[in-house]
Amino acid sequence: MKKDAKIYVAGHCGMVGSAIVRKLRKQGYENLIMRTHQELDLCRQEQVEQFFAEEKPEYVFLAAAKVGGIAANQEYPADFMWINLALEMNVIHSAWKNGCKKLEFLGSSCIYPRMAPQPMKEHCLLTSELEATNEAYALAKISGLKYCEYLNRQYGTDFISVMPTNLYGPNDNYHPSNSHVLPALIRRFHEAKIQRQPYVTCWGDGSALREFLYVDDLADLCVFLMNHYSGNETVNAGTGKEVSIKELAELTAKVIGYHGEIRWDVSKPNGTPRKLLDVGKASGLGWKHTIELEDGIRLAYEDFLHNPMRAER
Ligand SMILES: NC(=O)c1ccc[n+]([C@@H]2O[C@H](COP(=O)([O-])OP(=O)(O)OC[C@H]3O[C@@H](n4cnc5c(N)ncnc54)[C@H](OP(=O)(O)O)[C@@H]3O)[C@@H](O)[C@H]2O)c1
Repeated sequence: MKKDAKIYVAGHCGMVGSAIVRKLRKQGYENLIMRTHQELDLCRQEQVEQFFAEEKPEYVFLAAAKVGGIAANQEYPADFMWINLALEMNVIHSAWKNGCKKLEFLGSSCIYPRMAPQPMKEHCLLTSELEATNEAYALAKISGLKYCEYLNRQYGTDFISVMPTNLYGPNDNYHPSNSHVLPALIRRFHEAKIQRQPYVTCWGDGSALREFLYVDDLADLCVFLMNHYSGNETVNAGTGKEVSIKELAELTAKVIGYHGEIRWDVSKPNGTPRKLLDVGKASGLGWKHTIELEDGIRLAYEDFLHNPMRAER
């Protein structure tokens, strides 16, 4: 991308989109186009077609999506499928129709089969059944990345996709019942510290293993791939390192300065025992994450403290 290239970041108010905007600006890209959800509903085909016909962005980062935890995914599968499919198809199709040089589609590691061998490689996509709890979301994401691949094959476009592991960092969602595990722990330990609670109870036995990538590292990879990668196969975005939920809870409590007891409610589910991405492809391209978990949690907590509205999202 030339420094004056016209770049549209879809979903720039979200955690990933805002990190991509920060990274682009830091690298000297200033010709950015952005629209809030209110200004442009990406599910509305006519609005999207008009926007692309008028603006004709040369590059597109597609980071807009309807995102949620297990409970929301289970309760609203039809909404997760329709909103994500509609906005992906509208944006990707209009980008192609209007001569976009390159588009990068953001997916999620939940596209991989429930029983995929660990660590999960890109080519295990569609080799067996998906996890039932977020099947609708995963099917929409798989359709998005496949549509990019089909446009490349049929029309010679240069549309790519990236599949991140669990993300965290500035602009995260700290909603008490609808957030992912790490922001939920940050909020719980913060509140327990302020209210001097003697203990905090976490779900499961803490043995499940998970991977976490700081969102600014993901944004760095997104810009890197836009400049250095072309291909139909997606690229995994992670650290390649895993941590148990117990270690994660202890680390988060330490960063926040909560000194009470951490209890485990073993009547609650652990989830999949292990979920780790194989990041060999991204590292083979010359990319590596830079922010380790403890430093990342510290940065995320600072953002949480300085932006009290975060907790209300
Ligand atoms: N968060 C994670 O841990 C994680 C992990 C792996 C992959 N990802 C992927 O990263 C991408 C971005 O996720 P995120 O965490 O940044 O989510 P986010 O913070 O919820 O941001 C998504 C953005 O998309 C916007 N949006 C949703 N529907 C829209 C529509 N119809 N028209 C216009 N804008 C719309 C949202 O606006 P409103 O809020 O106004 O609706 C929001 O600003 C997603 O594709 C997700 O799958 C995230």
